[in-house]
Amino acid sequence: MSEKLWQGRFEQPTDKMVEEYTASIHFDSRLYRYDIEGSIAHCRMLADCGIISHEEASQIIQGLGEILREIERGELTLESSQEDIHMAVEQRLMQKIGEVGGKLHTARSRNDQIALDTRLYMRDVLLQCRRLLLEVMAALTDLAEKNLHVILPGFTHLQHAQPVLLAHHLMAYCEMFSRDEERMAQCYARTNVLPLGSAALAGTTFPIDMERTARYLGFPRVVRNSMDAVSDRDYLIEFCAAAALTMMHVSRLSEELVLWTTPEFDFVEISDAFCTGSSIMPQKKNPDVPELMRGKTGRVYGNLMALLTLTKGLPLTYNRDLQEDKEPVFDTADTLLATLAVLNKMLPALRFHEEKMAEAAARSFALATDVADYLVLKGVPFRKAHHVVGQLVSYCIREGKDLSECTLEEFRKFHKSLEEDIFELLDIRAAVDRRRSLGGTSTERVREALESMRAEIAVR
Ligand code: ARG
Repeated sequence: MSEKLWQGRFEQPTDKMVEEYTASIHFDSRLYRYDIEGSIAHCRMLADCGIISHEEASQIIQGLGEILREIERGELTLESSQEDIHMAVEQRLMQKIGEVGGKLHTARSRNDQIALDTRLYMRDVLLQCRRLLLEVMAALTDLAEKNLHVILPGFTHLQHAQPVLLAHHLMAYCEMFSRDEERMAQCYARTNVLPLGSAALAGTTFPIDMERTARYLGFPRVVRNSMDAVSDRDYLIEFCAAAALTMMHVSRLSEELVLWTTPEFDFVEISDAFCTGSSIMPQKKNPDVPELMRGKTGRVYGNLMALLTLTKGLPLTYNRDLQEDKEPVFDTADTLLATLAVLNKMLPALRFHEEKMAEAAARSFALATDVADYLVLKGVPFRKAHHVVGQLVSYCIREGKDLSECTLEEFRKFHKSLEEDIFELLDIRAAVDRRRSLGGTSTERVREALESMRAEIAVR
């Protein structure tokens, strides 16, 4: 076991069990690239400011570059005695270049270092999320366009409500993912701030130039308060919250796919490549992918709650509890990125059963509102019209017939304003296309929505 870099004030070595208990190397080692990138920028700044010599800086930078390659090739074993990724890299640096390696940690602490590493990591993850979300939006828009003529029943309370275009239904999800993408972009802006130089909590006595470090690492801004910089994790929580919302949207879409692939609905077929069979029932084709998307949403919610709970009682500034922030964040990022990538492959392979949808859309008195609206146009107050059509529907249910199967005489028993032209009204496509209000389901409005979504995707 090697001597700890902070061993100076201790008389006894760390208990082996404590060493393992406190170590984070087994999960924070994945931050190695960011840790080394941050160290290189820090080292360059130290030399620029005359805090270390240029000769020392180039030795350190060369050493860090070699360590990066060693880790990438799997040549460096990282173990619990090294505690965390920062210590592991620094220890290896000292082994390689000797005492001078000890100058790297001038004017910084692991407290601002970990804040930097996680911000660099988050920037990468957020960019990947944004790219994948834009792909999901494009896939939904394509699917909507391809199925622009398809009509299905729109539901409220999972009961048939009014007919809508499938494209309108799909574009509803597209709007949700568009807001998710926007949230990721906003989270990126708040994450994109340099904390390095805050040191342990109070800043440093060395004449550092944080703006220079920021430029080296591509941060447009530097933190305004060193205590805030080492203790808050709101940028991670915000990401987990945005991820939870995104997964909630994916989960609702998944739930619909699970429902819609049942023989009771039979609205859609998911490609075989995204389903699995049963070990006992030969006929089965199960929608495992959407089910798992729905299921994995739970762990992403759990991670958000873990982080909120982790941080709620912490006094300023850094507390070791904060080391526990990483696993929930990594798990959230891994789960979300994988889910969006699979969703992107699954969406274009969906086959919608348009006849089944149209059939269902015409059933269950989906045009009752239209009949009420018709009466309103003839001067009947809406509440009265609603009541009259309610009685008409109740009559049809007793007679076992649909609205379109009633004769004019039957209609007129309920209201004398119902005339011959009522039959033209009872056409589902015409009913859809009458809904021309902004954001409505008419073909005209949905076509506009598709166009504006495409334009938006192109500029984001
Ligand atoms: N592994 C630690 C973490 O993830 C790094 C910072 C440790 N700082 C300290 N003073 N022990 O939070």
